[in-house]
Amino acid sequence: MAEIIIALDYPESGPALDLVDRVGADADFYKVGLELYTRSGPEIVQALASRGKRVFLDLKLHDIPNTVAGGVRSAAEHGVDLLTVHAAGGPSMLARAAEAAREAAESGGHRVRIVAVTVLTSLPAFEVEEIWGRTVDSVRDEVLRLASMAGEAGIDGVVSSALEAEALRHVLGPDALLVTPGIRPAGAETHDQARVATPALAVAAGASHLVVGRSITQAADPRSAYRAIAEEAAAAAAGGHTPGALDG
Ligand code: C5P
Repeated sequence: MAEIIIALDYPESGPALDLVDRVGADADFYKVGLELYTRSGPEIVQALASRGKRVFLDLKLHDIPNTVAGGVRSAAEHGVDLLTVHAAGGPSMLARAAEAAREAAESGGHRVRIVAVTVLTSLPAFEVEEIWGRTVDSVRDEVLRLASMAGEAGIDGVVSSALEAEALRHVLGPDALLVTPGIRPAGAETHDQARVATPALAVAAGASHLVVGRSITQAADPRSAYRAIAEEAAAAAAGGHTPGALDG
Protein backbone atom coordinates (compact mmCIF):
# COMPACT_ATOMS: atom_id res chain seq x y z
CA MET A 1 0.00 0.00 0.00
CA ALA A 2 1.60 3.27 -1.13
CA GLU A 3 1.85 6.07 1.38
CA ILE A 4 1.17 9.71 0.63
CA ILE A 5 3.79 12.25 1.75
CA ILE A 6 2.76 15.92 1.70
CA ALA A 7 5.60 18.27 0.66
CA LEU A 8 5.81 21.27 2.98
CA ASP A 9 7.38 23.67 0.50
CA TYR A 10 7.09 26.74 2.69
CA PRO A 11 9.76 29.28 3.64
CA GLU A 12 8.89 29.11 7.32
CA SER A 13 7.26 26.90 9.89
CA GLY A 14 4.12 28.97 10.63
CA PRO A 15 2.29 28.39 7.34
CA ALA A 16 3.70 24.86 7.13
CA LEU A 17 2.19 23.89 10.48
CA ASP A 18 -1.06 25.69 9.63
CA LEU A 19 -1.35 23.41 6.60
CA VAL A 20 -0.60 20.33 8.72
CA ASP A 21 -3.37 21.35 11.11
CA ARG A 22 -5.79 22.04 8.25
CA VAL A 23 -5.21 18.60 6.75
CA GLY A 24 -5.71 17.08 10.19
CA ALA A 25 -5.49 13.53 11.43
CA ASP A 26 -5.85 11.70 8.11
CA ALA A 27 -2.36 12.53 6.85
CA ASP A 28 0.65 11.60 8.90
CA PHE A 29 3.72 11.89 6.64
CA TYR A 30 5.30 15.21 5.63
CA LYS A 31 8.33 16.22 3.60
CA VAL A 32 10.60 18.95 4.91
CA GLY A 33 13.02 20.29 2.31
CA LEU A 34 16.05 22.52 2.16
CA GLU A 35 14.29 25.86 2.38
CA LEU A 36 12.15 25.08 5.42
CA TYR A 37 14.87 23.11 7.20
CA THR A 38 17.49 25.80 6.69
CA ARG A 39 15.22 28.31 8.34
CA SER A 40 13.47 26.21 10.97
CA GLY A 41 15.96 23.40 11.60
CA PRO A 42 15.16 20.55 13.96
CA GLU A 43 12.30 22.57 15.49
CA ILE A 44 10.08 21.88 12.49
CA VAL A 45 10.88 18.16 12.76
CA GLN A 46 10.04 18.24 16.47
CA ALA A 47 6.85 20.22 15.84
CA LEU A 48 5.72 17.59 13.35
CA ALA A 49 6.69 14.74 15.67
CA SER A 50 4.75 16.32 18.53
CA ARG A 51 1.67 16.26 16.27
CA GLY A 52 2.25 12.54 15.69
CA LYS A 53 3.54 13.05 12.14
CA ARG A 54 6.37 11.25 10.39
CA VAL A 55 9.06 13.24 8.61
CA PHE A 56 10.76 12.85 5.25
CA LEU A 57 13.82 15.10 5.48
CA ASP A 58 14.77 15.91 1.90
CA LEU A 59 18.26 17.39 2.27
CA LYS A 60 19.95 15.38 -0.52
CA LEU A 61 23.18 14.86 1.40
CA HIS A 62 26.36 14.66 -0.67
CA ASP A 63 29.64 14.89 1.24
CA ILE A 64 32.51 12.73 2.46
CA PRO A 65 31.29 9.43 3.99
CA ASN A 66 32.14 10.39 7.57
CA THR A 67 30.18 13.64 7.36
CA VAL A 68 27.14 12.03 5.74
CA ALA A 69 27.17 9.26 8.37
CA GLY A 70 27.09 11.99 11.03
CA GLY A 71 24.14 13.64 9.27
CA VAL A 72 22.29 10.32 9.25
CA ARG A 73 22.92 9.85 12.99
CA SER A 74 21.63 13.36 13.71
CA ALA A 75 18.53 12.72 11.60
CA ALA A 76 17.91 9.48 13.52
CA GLU A 77 18.24 11.36 16.82
CA HIS A 78 15.56 13.79 15.67
CA GLY A 79 13.23 10.93 14.76
CA VAL A 80 13.36 11.46 10.98
CA ASP A 81 11.78 8.55 9.07
CA LEU A 82 13.13 9.09 5.56
CA LEU A 83 16.26 10.96 4.45
CA THR A 84 17.67 11.64 0.97
CA VAL A 85 21.29 11.39 -0.18
CA HIS A 86 22.79 11.83 -3.66
CA ALA A 87 23.74 8.53 -5.30
CA ALA A 88 26.57 10.46 -7.00
CA GLY A 89 28.23 10.72 -3.57
CA GLY A 90 29.53 7.26 -4.45
CA PRO A 91 29.42 3.71 -3.10
CA SER A 92 31.47 4.43 0.04
CA MET A 93 29.31 7.37 1.02
CA LEU A 94 26.13 5.38 0.37
CA ALA A 95 27.38 2.39 2.33
CA ARG A 96 28.35 4.55 5.31
CA ALA A 97 24.97 6.27 5.24
CA ALA A 98 23.18 2.91 5.23
CA GLU A 99 25.45 1.58 7.97
CA ALA A 100 24.93 4.66 10.16
CA ALA A 101 21.15 4.25 9.84
CA ARG A 102 21.35 0.56 10.79
CA GLU A 103 23.68 1.21 13.72
CA ALA A 104 21.46 4.00 15.08
CA ALA A 105 18.45 1.65 15.02
CA GLU A 106 20.43 -1.23 16.55
CA SER A 107 21.48 0.95 19.45
CA GLY A 108 17.86 1.72 20.26
CA GLY A 109 17.46 4.84 18.15
CA HIS A 110 14.97 5.67 15.45
CA ARG A 111 15.22 3.74 12.17
CA VAL A 112 15.78 6.36 9.51
CA ARG A 113 15.49 4.95 6.03
CA ILE A 114 17.78 6.31 3.34
CA VAL A 115 16.69 6.95 -0.22
CA ALA A 116 19.01 8.05 -3.01
CA VAL A 117 18.47 10.70 -5.63
CA THR A 118 20.00 9.50 -8.91
CA VAL A 119 20.00 12.18 -11.63
CA LEU A 120 18.17 15.38 -10.73
CA THR A 121 15.14 15.70 -13.01
CA SER A 122 16.09 19.34 -13.58
CA LEU A 123 19.25 18.27 -15.46
CA PRO A 124 19.08 18.06 -19.25
CA ALA A 125 21.27 15.39 -20.88
CA PHE A 126 23.85 17.94 -22.06
CA GLU A 127 24.43 19.10 -18.47
CA VAL A 128 24.79 15.49 -17.28
CA GLU A 129 27.49 15.10 -19.95
CA GLU A 130 29.12 18.35 -18.86
CA ILE A 131 29.25 17.23 -15.20
CA TRP A 132 30.61 13.75 -15.91
CA GLY A 133 32.81 14.69 -18.86
CA ARG A 134 31.58 11.94 -21.15
CA THR A 135 28.84 11.16 -23.61
CA VAL A 136 25.57 10.01 -22.05
CA ASP A 137 23.40 8.11 -24.51
CA SER A 138 20.47 7.68 -22.15
CA VAL A 139 19.85 9.56 -18.91
CA ARG A 140 17.35 6.82 -18.02
CA ASP A 141 20.15 4.21 -18.19
CA GLU A 142 22.23 6.40 -15.88
CA VAL A 143 19.30 6.58 -13.46
CA LEU A 144 19.04 2.77 -13.43
CA ARG A 145 22.81 2.36 -13.09
CA LEU A 146 23.03 4.77 -10.14
CA ALA A 147 19.97 3.20 -8.50
CA SER A 148 21.54 -0.22 -8.80
CA MET A 149 24.77 1.11 -7.28
CA ALA A 150 22.80 2.61 -4.38
CA GLY A 151 20.93 -0.66 -3.84
CA GLU A 152 24.18 -2.62 -3.74
CA ALA A 153 25.53 -0.19 -1.15
CA GLY A 154 22.59 -1.04 1.13
CA ILE A 155 20.43 2.03 0.54
CA ASP A 156 16.69 1.50 1.20
CA GLY A 157 15.44 2.89 -2.10
CA VAL A 158 15.41 5.80 -4.53
CA VAL A 159 13.51 8.94 -5.41
CA SER A 160 12.25 8.77 -8.96
CA SER A 161 9.64 9.89 -11.40
CA ALA A 162 6.63 7.56 -11.37
CA LEU A 163 7.38 7.09 -15.04
CA GLU A 164 10.62 5.29 -14.13
CA ALA A 165 9.26 3.42 -11.11
CA GLU A 166 8.44 0.23 -12.96
CA ALA A 167 11.98 -0.15 -14.34
CA LEU A 168 13.46 0.75 -10.96
CA ARG A 169 11.28 -1.78 -9.15
CA HIS A 170 12.66 -4.38 -11.53
CA VAL A 171 16.26 -3.34 -10.77
CA LEU A 172 15.89 -2.91 -7.01
CA GLY A 173 13.46 -5.67 -6.10
CA PRO A 174 10.20 -5.84 -4.18
CA ASP A 175 11.39 -4.42 -0.87
CA ALA A 176 12.97 -1.20 -2.16
CA LEU A 177 11.32 2.12 -1.38
CA LEU A 178 10.33 4.02 -4.52
CA VAL A 179 9.50 7.59 -3.62
CA THR A 180 7.79 9.41 -6.48
CA PRO A 181 7.16 13.17 -6.71
CA GLY A 182 5.41 14.81 -9.66
CA ILE A 183 2.01 13.37 -8.72
CA ARG A 184 -1.13 15.08 -9.98
CA PRO A 185 -4.76 13.93 -9.85
CA ALA A 186 -6.17 13.53 -13.37
CA GLY A 187 -6.93 16.90 -14.93
CA ALA A 188 -5.15 18.90 -12.21
CA GLU A 189 -2.80 21.83 -12.76
CA THR A 190 0.73 20.52 -13.53
CA HIS A 191 2.51 23.72 -12.32
CA ASP A 192 6.18 23.58 -13.35
CA GLN A 193 6.40 19.76 -13.46
CA ALA A 194 7.16 18.50 -16.96
CA ARG A 195 6.48 14.82 -16.26
CA VAL A 196 3.56 14.01 -14.01
CA ALA A 197 1.62 10.86 -13.17
CA THR A 198 -1.70 10.31 -11.45
CA PRO A 199 -1.72 8.59 -8.05
CA ALA A 200 -3.22 5.49 -9.67
CA LEU A 201 -0.48 5.29 -12.30
CA ALA A 202 2.26 5.76 -9.71
CA VAL A 203 0.84 2.95 -7.60
CA ALA A 204 0.45 0.73 -10.66
CA ALA A 205 4.09 1.39 -11.55
CA GLY A 206 5.18 0.14 -8.14
CA ALA A 207 5.73 3.36 -6.16
CA SER A 208 5.82 2.87 -2.39
CA HIS A 209 5.54 6.58 -1.51
CA LEU A 210 3.83 9.37 -3.44
CA VAL A 211 5.10 12.90 -2.74
CA VAL A 212 2.38 15.50 -3.29
CA GLY A 213 2.89 19.22 -2.79
CA ARG A 214 0.82 21.93 -4.41
CA SER A 215 -2.13 19.71 -5.35
CA ILE A 216 -2.78 19.57 -1.61
CA THR A 217 -1.07 22.64 -0.13
CA GLN A 218 -2.66 25.07 -2.61
CA ALA A 219 -6.07 23.41 -2.68
CA ALA A 220 -9.02 25.41 -1.36
CA ASP A 221 -9.72 22.43 0.91
CA PRO A 222 -6.42 20.61 1.58
CA ARG A 223 -8.09 17.89 3.65
CA SER A 224 -10.46 16.91 0.84
CA ALA A 225 -7.64 17.10 -1.70
CA TYR A 226 -5.54 14.76 0.46
CA ARG A 227 -8.45 12.36 0.91
CA ALA A 228 -9.19 12.21 -2.81
CA ILE A 229 -5.55 11.39 -3.61
CA ALA A 230 -5.28 8.83 -0.81
CA GLU A 231 -8.51 7.17 -1.98
CA GLU A 232 -7.31 7.03 -5.58
CA ALA A 233 -4.03 5.43 -4.44
CA ALA A 234 -5.86 2.93 -2.21
CA ALA A 235 -8.29 2.02 -4.99
CA ALA A 236 -5.41 1.45 -7.40
CA ALA A 237 -3.68 -0.79 -4.85
CA ALA A 238 -6.89 -2.72 -4.13
CA GLY A 239 -7.65 -3.04 -7.82
CA GLY A 240 -4.59 -5.24 -8.16
CA HIS A 241 -2.96 -3.10 -10.83
CA THR A 242 0.21 -4.62 -12.09
CA PRO A 243 3.23 -2.63 -13.26
CA GLY A 244 2.28 -3.65 -16.79
CA ALA A 245 -0.80 -1.46 -16.50
CA LEU A 246 1.35 1.44 -17.64
CA ASP A 247 2.41 -0.26 -20.82
CA GLY A 248 -0.89 0.06 -22.60
O1 C5P B 1 4.07 20.76 -5.67
P1 C5P B 1 4.59 19.46 -6.20
O2 C5P B 1 3.62 18.30 -6.00
O3 C5P B 1 5.10 19.57 -7.61
O4 C5P B 1 5.84 19.16 -5.25
C1 C5P B 1 6.66 18.07 -5.44
C2 C5P B 1 7.73 17.99 -4.37
O5 C5P B 1 8.64 16.98 -4.74
C3 C5P B 1 8.53 19.27 -4.21
O6 C5P B 1 8.93 19.37 -2.83
C4 C5P B 1 9.72 19.04 -5.09
O7 C5P B 1 10.86 19.72 -4.67
C5 C5P B 1 9.93 17.53 -4.93
N1 C5P B 1 10.65 16.89 -6.03
C6 C5P B 1 10.20 16.94 -7.33
N2 C5P B 1 10.91 16.32 -8.33
C7 C5P B 1 12.02 15.66 -8.04
C8 C5P B 1 12.48 15.59 -6.74
C9 C5P B 1 11.75 16.22 -5.74
O8 C5P B 1 9.16 17.52 -7.61
N3 C5P B 1 12.68 15.05 -9.01
